[in-house]
Amino acid sequence: MQDNKMQIFDTTLRDGEQVPGCKLDTKQKLVIAERLDFMGVDVIEAGFPVSSPGDFNSVSEVAKIVKNATVCGLTRAVEKDIEVAAAALIYAKKPRIHTGIGTSDSHIKYKFNSSREEVVTRAVLAVRYAKSFVEDVEFYAEDAGRTDNAFLAQICEEVIKAGATVLNIPDTTGYCLPEEYGAKIKYLKEHVKGIEKVTISCHCHNDLGMATANSIAGAINGARQIECTINGIGERAGNTALEEVVMILKQHPTLNLETNINTQLLYDTSMMVREKMGMPVQPNKAIVGANAFAHSSGIHQDGVIKNRETYEIMNPEDVGVTESAIVLTARSGRAALAYRAKKIGYELTKIQLDKAYNYFLQIADIQKEIHDTDLHSIMKNVNKFSKIAIAS
Ligand code: KIV
Ligand code: ZN
Repeated sequence: MQDNKMQIFDTTLRDGEQVPGCKLDTKQKLVIAERLDFMGVDVIEAGFPVSSPGDFNSVSEVAKIVKNATVCGLTRAVEKDIEVAAAALIYAKKPRIHTGIGTSDSHIKYKFNSSREEVVTRAVLAVRYAKSFVEDVEFYAEDAGRTDNAFLAQICEEVIKAGATVLNIPDTTGYCLPEEYGAKIKYLKEHVKGIEKVTISCHCHNDLGMATANSIAGAINGARQIECTINGIGERAGNTALEEVVMILKQHPTLNLETNINTQLLYDTSMMVREKMGMPVQPNKAIVGANAFAHSSGIHQDGVIKNRETYEIMNPEDVGVTESAIVLTARSGRAALAYRAKKIGYELTKIQLDKAYNYFLQIADIQKEIHDTDLHSIMKNVNKFSKIAIAS
């Protein structure tokens, strides 16, 4: 694999779908999976097959229709889980079993009442067993973010020997600082024998708002797969947002990392996931939020009208948004009013603009936003009291 290729592993249908209220039926999962495949995602984690017959069926149906991406099913380090996942993936062109176990002292003590030695043994057995069904086996060290690095390196080395092809290093609780998470990946690259044979994967949660920053820190330090979801949906505060990591890599060519994603489909895919999951996106969400390309303060609007690059670091068309929006509020200036008036057919002289701006401010102080219908009535008023008719 090229060293500058970043694999995008989408877990919208597994980690994203675990969110209360976001449950999807098989038909909905199929529509989303087809879109993810078409958009260029490298791996689709379609579900957790042992969790319910419905999820088994969804993974199995997704496996049948996906044309290009690897289709992945999650398991615990439990034989039955692995058998069921293997059965669900039987029709996949490129199947992957994603198995693993908690590795932090907290998980070992409170979840398993076990020991580090026993956890290593269970991890190795699970990877070996998964390997008896499929060639491509990803191992996750759950809560790796809070796992002692030396122990993490030890378990990683053992699962590589057992046949793991991908090592997932999840910051399950979203606790790590970017420097810390990046250093963890670097430590594994430097201390795990055989690491050059596998792909290191970042799987970061957003509890402290650092999921995307942590994934990028992982990438800078040698990870070549990022696990993410559309709109960043997922457990608690969510997962790394796919649209964010993809656009960061695109907008920062100095990172020298490329993805396969057709970025022009990002906005539409975000809308599809919102609609199917019934999960709205906050207006200020990076890349796909309603305000991501909207400008409302006079200073910014003036700049954007003169040259978009003054306040925009990416082209909205690159993510499938038709154009930047100039939103008219009481904080807008004359340049924005003239721009929006022109868009709906009014060419204003300097005198007309001054007049229109006075009317505009009176209404804008009462209303949150001025829409095109308001603009038409402002222009009518200017015409009524002005000797020169406005060209419309
Ligand atoms: O957050 C996590 O640790 C996970 C694993 C099951 C991969 O989702
Ligand atoms: Zn997760």
